Amino acid sequence: MQTQADIYILAIESSCDDTSAAVCKNGKVLTNISADQKIHAEYGGVVPELASRAHTANIVPVVDLAMKGAGIAMKDIHAIAYTRGPGLLGSLLVGAGFAKGMAQALNIPLVDVHHMKAHVMAHFINEPHPQFPFLCLTVSGGHTQIVKVTDYNVMEVLGSTIDDAAGEAFDKTAKMLGLPYPGGPLIDKYASLGNPMAFKFNEPNIPGLDYSFSGLKTSVLYFLKDKLKDNSHFIEENLSDLCASVQYTIIKILLKKLKKAAKETGIQEIAIAGGVSANQGLRKYLSEMAVQEGWRVYIPDFQYCTDNAGMIAISGYYKFLKGETSSLLLPTLARWEMNE
Ligand code: KG4
Ligand code: ZN
Repeated sequence: MQTQADIYILAIESSCDDTSAAVCKNGKVLTNISADQKIHAEYGGVVPELASRAHTANIVPVVDLAMKGAGIAMKDIHAIAYTRGPGLLGSLLVGAGFAKGMAQALNIPLVDVHHMKAHVMAHFINEPHPQFPFLCLTVSGGHTQIVKVTDYNVMEVLGSTIDDAAGEAFDKTAKMLGLPYPGGPLIDKYASLGNPMAFKFNEPNIPGLDYSFSGLKTSVLYFLKDKLKDNSHFIEENLSDLCASVQYTIIKILLKKLKKAAKETGIQEIAIAGGVSANQGLRKYLSEMAVQEGWRVYIPDFQYCTDNAGMIAISGYYKFLKGETSSLLLPTLARWEMNE
């Protein structure tokens, strides 16, 4: 039943290759509908122009499904939240243009949302949620960061990658192993059948809380070149062990710095977010480390790990409560630092 005090937010996410819409009521996500784009698999990565066109085709049906599922009419919505950035400019523009047009037509406020902050805010979709301050390891296709979260949407980056993101490390090594894009979920799948100690790859030696994954990529490349010289079937014969070993190395790199951040800040509320947080191995080793270190660990539901509008809705809801609505003239941002 709808009461006077109910706040409904419609959210739109279109930063990369998922077109997503969600409706939340008083901070509870009612619907979260996504259309992914299979077209990119044959190109081995996201093709920006094709992504943008697919968003244009998908956005109306996706919003329609999200609204129908929530059982509300357009006139019931209080604000429209949308992803302002960071992401692919052509993709962002489709979602932002749609959100702005709709906000103007309905004469309701617009709330701009930071995509990476929204990944962290996904922790407030369901219970239990972390207590402030908490640390969040945010690992996606474009970002790898350790973030200190002190309030809703208030975050400070303590460390980040100086080159590739963790998701890129998964996707690029998967490509070397002949797996299609996006390779992360496939490495995860094959890794569950393999031995993580079978092969050893280089780990970076980067000071502070920053990350680097480009060395791992090179290490895997030269290792494979060497092995393929003697046996052209090396990859097929060892696929599970290769995936398990690559995945284990990425996880070790991620968790080493997370442990360091927890020690330095004294914070024991630890969360993970972003597409790579769907990784089974990362979830397992993080849970084990939590027991050793006495951390309380928060891992999002699978549907809220990869890109989704539910996280945009929740992020937008807390901004709306603080009165942080935005102008129709705000430009979308392909690059947008969290600390700005
Ligand atoms: O957060 P996300 O959906 O999009 C970005 O904002 O980038 O993250 C996508 C990334 C891709 O690199 C994908 O391969 C990776 O997350 N990913 C995974 C898994 N599921 C998605 N990586 C490892 N294991 C998974 N299960
Ligand atoms: Zn993302």
